[in-house]
Amino acid sequence: MAISAGGGDREKWGSRLGFVMAAAGSAVGLGNIWSFPYKAGENGGAAFLLLYLACVILVGLPVMLTELIIGRRSEKNPVGAYALLKPGTPWFLVGGVGVAAGFIILSYYSVVAGWVLGYFIESLGGTMARLENAEALSAYFDAFAANPWKAVGYHFAFMALCVLIVIQGVKGGIERWSKILMPVLFLLLITLVLRGLTLPGSMGGVRFLFAPDWSKLNAETFMAALGQACFTLSIGMGAMITYGSYMSRRDNLTTASLQVSVMDTMIAVMAGMAIFPAVFAIGLQPGEGPGLLFKTLPSVFNQMPGGAVFASLFFFLVVIAAITSGISLMEVVTAYMVDERGMSRRKAAVIFGGVIFVLGIPSALSSGASPFFTDFLGSGQSFFDWAFHISADYMLPVGALLCCVFIGWAVGSRTAVAEVRDGNPAFTTAPIWSFLVRWLSPFLVAQILLFGVLGEFEGQAVQDFSRLLMSWLVKFDVVLAVLFFLGSGWYLIFGRGRTRA
Ligand code: TRP
Repeated sequence: MAISAGGGDREKWGSRLGFVMAAAGSAVGLGNIWSFPYKAGENGGAAFLLLYLACVILVGLPVMLTELIIGRRSEKNPVGAYALLKPGTPWFLVGGVGVAAGFIILSYYSVVAGWVLGYFIESLGGTMARLENAEALSAYFDAFAANPWKAVGYHFAFMALCVLIVIQGVKGGIERWSKILMPVLFLLLITLVLRGLTLPGSMGGVRFLFAPDWSKLNAETFMAALGQACFTLSIGMGAMITYGSYMSRRDNLTTASLQVSVMDTMIAVMAGMAIFPAVFAIGLQPGEGPGLLFKTLPSVFNQMPGGAVFASLFFFLVVIAAITSGISLMEVVTAYMVDERGMSRRKAAVIFGGVIFVLGIPSALSSGASPFFTDFLGSGQSFFDWAFHISADYMLPVGALLCCVFIGWAVGSRTAVAEVRDGNPAFTTAPIWSFLVRWLSPFLVAQILLFGVLGEFEGQAVQDFSRLLMSWLVKFDVVLAVLFFLGSGWYLIFGRGRTRA
């Protein structure tokens, strides 16, 4: 067994299951339960779902494996990892951008998690159970999010919880929590899906989520799907590098990345199936935006026996899902400070928890009355939407793209394949993964980023050009994807024995 470039003396996960649960804990969070449904609602439902699935398979999964490789090989935080694997080059900057993205993401993430925490606490008093109809529930959320004391207060409470757990370290804090609570969330979500599907009028929601309307596709949809795929899998900023750095050389990186991605995707689709039937049953608009989760599910609860109890339990579990994700964002920053700046874990967590809390205040105030935050810099977007858009739709895809280039070209996929073979000696999918990381994934990401950038321009000429280019490239991509799947299938069935070392 090869020794890692990092030297091998880093703290490790307690068990293989512990890693998978912690990484799934990082991946499964508000991205699945809150942002996936609302983004799908804003971007055409099923068409978005398909693009998102394509992004998960062609970009998300290979990049997740790549990040785990970088992490386990270097046993470092993202900055240290890039620096160690390519010393004396500017590659460490990619890790630095990742750490910065972690700051931004956690700052607004914590605001949404704060809403969930608030809903949990208010549901204990049965407040939502007393609201009769969709308008009342909708107005309740709008007033809740616009209340600066509640928004900032719950945001603070959530950050404090994250800091407390991160201080306890990898095994005792992060791993212990994730292992128990993720399975419960899964069961509860199944219950909600069943109730949602049996509401009168719910089939419109199922159709919305599963019957694609291709006319809804445009540059923004592509961008939103890729951003969502990166966000929900926690890739593109080094969270998986950091978690991979605590993995043992006996762990099978391919299985781990597959398990995490499959679980994460299932939970997102289930959240969609819990929410859209309710949207249609109670007559809300699917394009409601960030409040969608909070406006729909309480009405599903209200139509269940013992709904108030289920509501509290559900919001409690979503808080937990958000915590296991929040701490992974926090852990990136903390690991950086501990490894590179020699700070103690406790000090790093407290200081940066505080900084992130302050950074999140503008997002917390974005649903309020002040135009400074609701129409940030005259962009027509709230500060919150703006921070989400910049970090998820630009920073994460760029991070993922550079991560592919780094391993596929700068370090070389041979070194990476050797790393995977510790723990998975066969690694039969190596050529498929190498092809994705060197060619297909970066190509697709670069393309979507290009459309995203073009989409930010208003001019008619730019838009026409972009639409023309897109219509051709999309056809090309479909051909590429079909060839890729055929080629991979052929290889897996007929070709693998011959190339095995
Ligand atoms: N994946 C988490 C979610 O879906 C959020 C998250 C945690 C994240 N760590 C991350 C997003 C790192 C991007 C990068 O809720």
